[in-house]
Amino acid sequence: MSDARDLQTTTTNTMGRGNWATSIGFILAATGSAIGLGNIWKFPYITGDYGGGAFVLVYLVCVLVVGLPLMLAELIIGRRTQQNPVGAFQKLHREGSPWQLVGWLGVASGFVILSYYSVVAGWALAYIFKAIAGFQGTAEAIQSEFGELVTSPGQSIFYHTIFMAICIGIVIGGIKRGIERWSKILMPALFAILLGLACYGLFSTEGGSKALAFLFKPDFSKLGAEGVLSALGHAFFTLSLGMGAMITYGSYMKRGSNLVRDAITISFLDTVVALVAGIAIFSMVFHFGMEPGQSVGLIFKTLPVLFKDIGPWISVPFFVLLTFAAVTSGISLLEVVVSYFVDRRGWSRIAATLVLGAGIYVLGIFSAVSAWSVPFSGKGFFDFFDDFSTNYMLPIGGLFTCLFIAWVMKDKDRADEFGSRGPLYKGLRFLLRYITPVAVLAVIVHQLGIVEKCFWLFIRLFVFFLNYAG
Ligand code: PHE
Repeated sequence: MSDARDLQTTTTNTMGRGNWATSIGFILAATGSAIGLGNIWKFPYITGDYGGGAFVLVYLVCVLVVGLPLMLAELIIGRRTQQNPVGAFQKLHREGSPWQLVGWLGVASGFVILSYYSVVAGWALAYIFKAIAGFQGTAEAIQSEFGELVTSPGQSIFYHTIFMAICIGIVIGGIKRGIERWSKILMPALFAILLGLACYGLFSTEGGSKALAFLFKPDFSKLGAEGVLSALGHAFFTLSLGMGAMITYGSYMKRGSNLVRDAITISFLDTVVALVAGIAIFSMVFHFGMEPGQSVGLIFKTLPVLFKDIGPWISVPFFVLLTFAAVTSGISLLEVVVSYFVDRRGWSRIAATLVLGAGIYVLGIFSAVSAWSVPFSGKGFFDFFDDFSTNYMLPIGGLFTCLFIAWVMKDKDRADEFGSRGPLYKGLRFLLRYITPVAVLAVIVHQLGIVEKCFWLFIRLFVFFLNYAG
């Protein structure tokens, strides 16, 4: 029905926006965005916290049911419109459409996430130098170094400054000569380092088989509802979904490549890297008889203690890997924000990158100074931004993106980019219409504690009623 109304201008002026030079360049850049601190820092520790295999299994299901369809949805929106997230929703709906708010939310998410992401990336950078110098002293002394770094505003701000400068430097170069070129260098290096670390973990330590059992043998006793929902939330973060990063990267694609294949490749690589990083890390952890559930400190506190015995030839590549992964994700976060000001406000790329990069840098200082906390919340800025963006901004952005592509976008626009109207297309449409939004809504409702609040309200009303009736 809506086929009659075609997208008015599918070949709008995209001059000056830039394009990926090669399709492998796009794949590496998009995979670079997806693979980041989420895979190497976050995935292993939440897997540890929720008991291993069962969590991994649920996470894999989430990637398939929510992640993959949304990844494809964002790429379709981006390539169809050749626009930043705000422009994309307007172009597919109408100028001034309320759906542009979803794009706006994405731009704001990019701004907020990069501000604190850069602080963690700064820690990774700092640990390269610590690893080169060698970890020395007692286990307590090594572990307390992390606390010193986090609570020293001077050090945290220093490394945050370097990381932001790197991201700004790359994004200023533009799509081909900045993002694509660096992704082509950093991503293969990352794969090689990771493979080396995993081989070391599997074959040179005694923890390999334990690590495999931990990651792949499901034990549902430690999972719980909380674990299921964390797995879903993590699927968003790790695949860079819900904030228009894939819309933006998709917008620099030329027509012709197969989006389904691309979305599968990106999601597959992201998942494999998380699993391989998990194998490498847990092999070392089990080899030394340490505990897997060490939360946030797994990488910065537990591993350095092991690295003292293993040596710098493993620890230095490990933190280089972490930093590379963070850089290719950081540039995608910055690009979302920059693309809006270049496309819609007519700013030059250099001015947009410098001004917005500086803005994000200043916001990041609040997260870098651990002593500062958000007024009235009792939370530090770092935790507040992390919690708010990952648990609210991304799922809400993802939910509306899903509703938009499933219910608002014209069938022709969608099917043209998808490349067919066969059973696969119908299956995707079904997922995006009914399954994905319900799953995402479940996370948001849980995060807001709506179910719990309603439950207690119900109990209170019930007690009140009993009292009243009695
Ligand atoms: N996917 C990145 C990671 O796993 C983080 C990210 C989120 C990047 C959202 C871009 C957009 O670290």
